[in-house]
Amino acid sequence: MPHPSLKVFDPLPRKERWFCRGRLAVAPLEEVAAQATGTHILDVGCGHGVLAAVLLHDDTRRHVVGIDPDVRKIEWAKASVGRNANAEFRACTIEELAAERPGEFDCVIVADVLCLISRSSWMPLLEAARTLLRPGGRLLIKDAENDGSWRATKALWQERITVHVLGRSVSTAIGFATREELARYITDAGFTIDSVESFARGYTTPHVLFVAHVPS
Ligand SMILES: C[S@@+](CC[C@H](N)C(=O)[O-])C[C@H]1O[C@@H](n2cnc3c(N)ncnc32)[C@H](O)[C@@H]1O
Repeated sequence: MPHPSLKVFDPLPRKERWFCRGRLAVAPLEEVAAQATGTHILDVGCGHGVLAAVLLHDDTRRHVVGIDPDVRKIEWAKASVGRNANAEFRACTIEELAAERPGEFDCVIVADVLCLISRSSWMPLLEAARTLLRPGGRLLIKDAENDGSWRATKALWQERITVHVLGRSVSTAIGFATREELARYITDAGFTIDSVESFARGYTTPHVLFVAHVPS
């Protein structure tokens, strides 16, 4: 039985509908959504908007802004979950949004984006996330960690095929950081880490979720 939030993707072509369904099956997006706080939520690298759909399904008081540099994906998101009046999707960078709307968000979520972009982009992205959050606001980073396991090797090849063979994702560099490296970037960007949890069990990717906040 597909998750009820996936109903919003019914208007999309079959291939895109199955992509969204698959995305929810292979990543713990419901667990990520469960950690979101407040009503104004930013989903950085939102893709088709699967996480946004879960967020809006779980709490109808939420307003979710999704941004992604991939114009094709933003069009799919607008044609599906974007029909919800509480959803807004834009093809722009986080730095552009930070210049326009500082302090507007209660929660910023970055799910499976850092592993697709070069390390030199991490700090500007995380600093822009801090600018966009109100004091005390929450940052959720969900990524795959390099834990040396078979899951990390499998997930790395999966990302390479998704980007270079299937052309399904925009990427500047593919690679997983260790949990310690991820933690260092998050704290160096001025966040305080509240918890780190592995969601590898039951999945074939070494998912890890950081919950952090901007000190008030
Ligand atoms: C694996 S998908 C994850 C999509 C969504 N966050 C989810 O969890 O379902 C990675 C997304 O990151 C986007 N992306 C790539 N480079 C980015 C960047 N510099 N800033 C924000 N998003 C980026 C890609 O276009 C793609 O939609």
